[in-house]
Amino acid sequence: MHVPGPLSSRWTAYLGLLSAFSAAFAPAVAVKEHDFKKCHQSGFCKRNREFADHALATSSWASPYNVAPDSGSFKDGQYQAVILKTTNSGETVWLPITVSFLESGTARVTVDEEKRQKGEIELRHGSKARKERYNEAEKWAIVGGMTLDKEAKVDYEDKTQITVKYGPTSKFEATIKFSPFSIDFKRDGISHVKLNDQGLLNIEHWRPKVDKPEPEKKDGDSTEENKAEEAKEEPKGEDESTWWEETFGGNTDTKPRGPESVGLDISFVGYEHVYGIPSHASSLSLKQTRGGEGNYQEPYRMYNADVFEYILDSPMTLYGSIPFMQAHRKDSSVGVFWLNAAETWVDITKAKDSKNPLSLGGKARTNTHTHWFSESGLLDVFVFLGPTPKDLTARYGELTGTTAMPQEFALGYHQCRWNYVSDEDVRDVDRKMDKFKMPYDVIWLDIEYTDEKKYFTWDKHSFTDPIGMGKQLDSHGRKLVTIIDPHIKNTDNYPVVAELKSKELGVKNKDGNLFEGWCWPGSSHWIDAFSPAAREWWSSLFKYDKFKGTMENTWIWNDMNEPSVFNGPETTMPKDNLHDGNWEHRDVHNLNGLTFHNATYHALLTRKPGELRRPFVLTRSFFAGSQRVGAMWTGDNQAAWDHLKASIPMVLSQGISGFPFSGADVGGFFGNPEKELLTRWYQAGAFYPFFRGHAHIDARRREPYLAGEPYTTIIAAALRLRYSLLPSWYTAFRHAHLDGTPIIKPMFYTHPSEEAGLAIEDQFFVGNTGLLAKPVTEKEKTTVDVWIPDGEVYYDYFTYQVIPTVKGKTVTLDAPMEKIPLLMRGGHVFARRDVPRRSSALMRWDDYTLVVTVPRENKVAEGDLYVDDGDSFEYQNGQYIHRRFVYDGAAKSLSSVDAEGRDAASIREGAWMKQMRSVGVGKIVVVGAPASWAGKKSVKVESEGKVWEARMEFTPAGQGRAAFAVIKKVGVRIGADWKVEF
Ligand SMILES: *[C@@H]1O[C@H](CO)[C@@H](O)[C@H](O)[C@H]1NC(C)=O
Repeated sequence: MHVPGPLSSRWTAYLGLLSAFSAAFAPAVAVKEHDFKKCHQSGFCKRNREFADHALATSSWASPYNVAPDSGSFKDGQYQAVILKTTNSGETVWLPITVSFLESGTARVTVDEEKRQKGEIELRHGSKARKERYNEAEKWAIVGGMTLDKEAKVDYEDKTQITVKYGPTSKFEATIKFSPFSIDFKRDGISHVKLNDQGLLNIEHWRPKVDKPEPEKKDGDSTEENKAEEAKEEPKGEDESTWWEETFGGNTDTKPRGPESVGLDISFVGYEHVYGIPSHASSLSLKQTRGGEGNYQEPYRMYNADVFEYILDSPMTLYGSIPFMQAHRKDSSVGVFWLNAAETWVDITKAKDSKNPLSLGGKARTNTHTHWFSESGLLDVFVFLGPTPKDLTARYGELTGTTAMPQEFALGYHQCRWNYVSDEDVRDVDRKMDKFKMPYDVIWLDIEYTDEKKYFTWDKHSFTDPIGMGKQLDSHGRKLVTIIDPHIKNTDNYPVVAELKSKELGVKNKDGNLFEGWCWPGSSHWIDAFSPAAREWWSSLFKYDKFKGTMENTWIWNDMNEPSVFNGPETTMPKDNLHDGNWEHRDVHNLNGLTFHNATYHALLTRKPGELRRPFVLTRSFFAGSQRVGAMWTGDNQAAWDHLKASIPMVLSQGISGFPFSGADVGGFFGNPEKELLTRWYQAGAFYPFFRGHAHIDARRREPYLAGEPYTTIIAAALRLRYSLLPSWYTAFRHAHLDGTPIIKPMFYTHPSEEAGLAIEDQFFVGNTGLLAKPVTEKEKTTVDVWIPDGEVYYDYFTYQVIPTVKGKTVTLDAPMEKIPLLMRGGHVFARRDVPRRSSALMRWDDYTLVVTVPRENKVAEGDLYVDDGDSFEYQNGQYIHRRFVYDGAAKSLSSVDAEGRDAASIREGAWMKQMRSVGVGKIVVVGAPASWAGKKSVKVESEGKVWEARMEFTPAGQGRAAFAVIKKVGVRIGADWKVEF
């Protein structure tokens, strides 16, 4: 066995690159692709692909999985049976299956394996591994939506199949065929999702290891006799070489449980587009993965990893994974959630339907076939039948939770770099941002603030007065974020590591001893956040009197939580490491980032007794459910135009996959952006839900005020645009929090009927504001083509020009350097705060501006505004304002009512709500105001039993600009009901 030395090739390569960067930064140093597995280097990936190749090439192929006769029963919304697999050697494998029909209309199919449920496997030195399939992914990922549909009914049943009707108004049905096993999910009588339709179901069953004499083999190449030998085993030609041990990059994975992958084909019938399964630096509409022009050769991979300098347009894995996929065609969306935390790959192919060319109005429809396989665990898949994209994100949100309601500051601008070198450096940046009138909310400290990478300590020479620094930030309502990673330095005189060791709270190696590996501090141990005791201990470390130098405005950044292990296989932990409950790391790998992120979130809830404030924790690694505890960013990108461009589909993909609080490092992490790129990146970043500038330690300083004119002014304008729209961003977060709606929305999401928009990935709407943004992502580009999804009127955000649009066509907009292409769709009302200030906290008591964009034919425009104290959990006790605004062109009025129909008198106002009584609507701007308003000088305002007049200024249309009206000093409270009559 190869024992990795303390300095692996990965680590030395890293050091080498660091110095290469310092000498002269070479842009586009590609990721060490060979540091990460290709499918053929991952035993189970190779086996499942070979299984698929064999099945698809065999015309008589029949899946060897059959539901045992008379094993099935249906009760209380659940169908249970046993699937039998007959192996080539004649053995019968028992696979209990449960199909659960949930009240929400979601169906869940779970397949376990009977024989291995009990028992343990003896490992070396008396330690043990569990033998059963990992069945706790649900425990971490799922938080609701699991009530069974008691109304689900068997609609038809005979010896060969059973059909269950379920879901709202019973319009969904599932037909389970017994021989071979398959499930066909229908909506309104039409097939949408089929499981095992291609017969690729493959559950590698438990088998004891038989020690046979090792045949001569080199690198997985089998001899002829060996091949003949293997052919006798099932399935045909199976490559056993990686069943019991697998080596990659000098690391050997001992596999005490042998082969145990689960694989299944999922067909989306009549669907041409599939989206989701982030994070990949790939297109929004996912590509085919089995070769051919413009397609990938490799499946999309989900195995959370610290991918150094990732490449673009690739299905390679990145830092986090959400195995949730949605399929979309004109007017219909369906999806699946593959609940498995082990290494997972997904192949995607599309094929014209040859069987039924006359369906769908004579057009041969396209089916998308997906093939999923995971290294271990249960086969567990949720099926969503839509029919809208919003239904999918809502149903998925019920299961895995929605975005935590963030602190309001978290939506402001974050200034980060590796590293601000001292507290004086931080104070200086803070002062300069003010000097250049650049609003920001948070400054960040990367790893160098610590005493030799010992988290929970400060470098005593450079950070002499962290509290003084924190207080200066606080004087303008600003915050500090410090990094805390899961690797704990293995050194003497460090109480944190001493406790981790003595209390046995770390991840263990395969021998049951504390795992040791290399990361930033050198030799390190890793907290096992799967362990309740470890999480409790973690909480204790963040108390203000324990993590000295932190205060109420200190928040946390969790990096490297894939986990990144410099000398580990694929820069992460060995798969045979052991976690709480003796589960192998293999089983829980993709959950690791979530459990650590969650442990930090919970730690921040208990820093001080009685302090109940919403934690802010940024994570790099994530899984389904991470949205409940914080924000993510897309990791270590590069200062290059193509990385700016790629960030938009990546962030959109996060949004539709339930984790919308996301952004990319503005400016690009590695390298030095030219000023034009930096400026365009700020203009784009102002539309990321999470907006942070960040830079590598060897990158030149690039705080936005350093850019010089005209860039500094242009960047300041982008920052201020973000700040003025914070009320609308916050409202969008409220919707994400309530029902999983994305914060920025791609065209297929907002306009699911427009086929031409389904693959568009470079423009998006912001919340419900009707703001349509298309950031410039190309060098020296001074125009953009915006695709117009509907027949509404569109206005330029800044000039109120009426854009000459045609539904379904693109329109070219001028986009010189100082301009962000941003349109306002007619028919919306959104809120802003127009007084520029240094931070979001300082805007808290400012009046609002409401912008009404009058739709075609002066019909109805609508919008809403959600406000709370932006900090505590009091919103859960009704301490919030949520207004709905309706402009009615025919009735000539604009009104504000409680968006949830609450009775104001029923809300007992706490301190924040009382203070909000002084906050009003300062200004109303009606863009596209009817010409008939010309000559009007005032409007009638009615609120809280009083009626008065407010002044209106009307500007007639001219030179392509829409007419607009401005009402100043409206005089109404933001929290009150009111009505303006024009
Ligand atoms: C998050 O932490 C809490 C408190 O320790 C725990 O109850 C919960 O199971 C954890 N969830 C995840 C996803 O780690």
